[in-house]
Amino acid sequence: MDRLPGFRDFYPEPLPTPEGWSADLRRHLFTRWRAVAERYGFREYDGPPLEPLELYTAKSGAEIVGQLYNFTDKGGREVALRPEMTPTLARLAAAHERHYKKPLKWFAMPQLFRYERQQKGRLREHFQFNADILGEPDRAADAELIALLIDSLRALGLSAEDFVVRLSSRQAWQDFFARHTTRPDQAYEFYQIVDKLEREPAEVSAPKLEALGLTLEQVRHFIAAGEPTDELRAILANLEARGLGDFVRIDYNVIRGLAYYTGPVYEAFDRKGQFRAIAGGGRYDHLVRLVSGGKVDLPALGFGMGDVVLAELLKARQLVPRWEGRLDAFCLVEDESLRPATLRFIQQLRNAGLTVDYSLTPAKSDRQFKRALELAASHTARLERSTDGELRARLKHLATREERTVSLTDAPAALRQA
Ligand code: HAM
Repeated sequence: MDRLPGFRDFYPEPLPTPEGWSADLRRHLFTRWRAVAERYGFREYDGPPLEPLELYTAKSGAEIVGQLYNFTDKGGREVALRPEMTPTLARLAAAHERHYKKPLKWFAMPQLFRYERQQKGRLREHFQFNADILGEPDRAADAELIALLIDSLRALGLSAEDFVVRLSSRQAWQDFFARHTTRPDQAYEFYQIVDKLEREPAEVSAPKLEALGLTLEQVRHFIAAGEPTDELRAILANLEARGLGDFVRIDYNVIRGLAYYTGPVYEAFDRKGQFRAIAGGGRYDHLVRLVSGGKVDLPALGFGMGDVVLAELLKARQLVPRWEGRLDAFCLVEDESLRPATLRFIQQLRNAGLTVDYSLTPAKSDRQFKRALELAASHTARLERSTDGELRARLKHLATREERTVSLTDAPAALRQA
């Protein structure tokens, strides 16, 4: 039976097929994301993968609602697999924000589900690094998040030559729309047209804009002028002060597809323009109020970075590390009468934090040795009895083939040193 389209199997390296997904690469992303988030003082949270459908229908906008995996559960509840983390975060924060000092700086790495048309960089499930700040209206928070976004990509080996953060403002677009439209109630429709401008031909976008009383020319002119608002200038200055100015540029082509953004918004792209967005985010100051039914009002902002485009980009830039076996020792059982003692020895090594493997069932010596080589073990270890009947460990360093005999007590340290 095959897996569903748009879903992935993750295999350990070496991968069975070149186009397969690597569980080792996924762990690499998670490890770096978590490390950088913690370096910035963010704390980890999580929520349920299944949520009430309602959490998304009014808040995220038509585009994502059209992509929901939703159904009625056995209790008659309308539910959906989470397509994004932000509404869940808004709910979590609204429920217990008083328990925490502000601003909240939180991160998560959820698996998300969207019934999208499959294309390069877009699947029906992906993992997304989310980092958000709640309770801070100052632009310093916007800059802090963009810096975190940049550093999480740098931690994977990418540089200012590989990617750029395109910074824009939903507020600036809202003001532009209010100035030019004949249909002020259609702002979200307008944002969606702008969001697709780079991907849709002019013959499709122009009539849609005209229906709102705007021309493609006006919109293109606004983008080309690229005049940063005061808010964007402050964010740029903040990032420049950190030496991160090269990673950002003003670009009003970005507006974001989701409905809830209210202020500065941004997306990270590869410089060569070969891939879809690596990450996207911005300020959404009204979402917590909306999700809490007006009970809690917290300014909020954040971004999401997906694993799919990122993995493609790292592969293209040859930044995927090679994963080799990490065995400190492969224990050989050549004399079956020593198996119980060897098991005790293996347990002792593992208790000491060493990675150890061995043949579960009796096997010929050369087969065990071959297995040790296949697993790229650093050593083989074999128990033997000295003339006075004491058990000792014979260690062989596989790269140099050097051998030495040590006491069982000294074995963990000896394996660690080499
Ligand atoms: P988003 O732009 O919908 O934002 O997604 C963020 C990133 O997730 C995208 O740039 C992309 O890398 C990845 N992504 C999205 N959909 C897919 C897909 N179908 N397949 C593969 N990768 C995908 C959000 O989700 C916002 N909730 C982010 C946010 C957090 N805003 C504020 N806080």
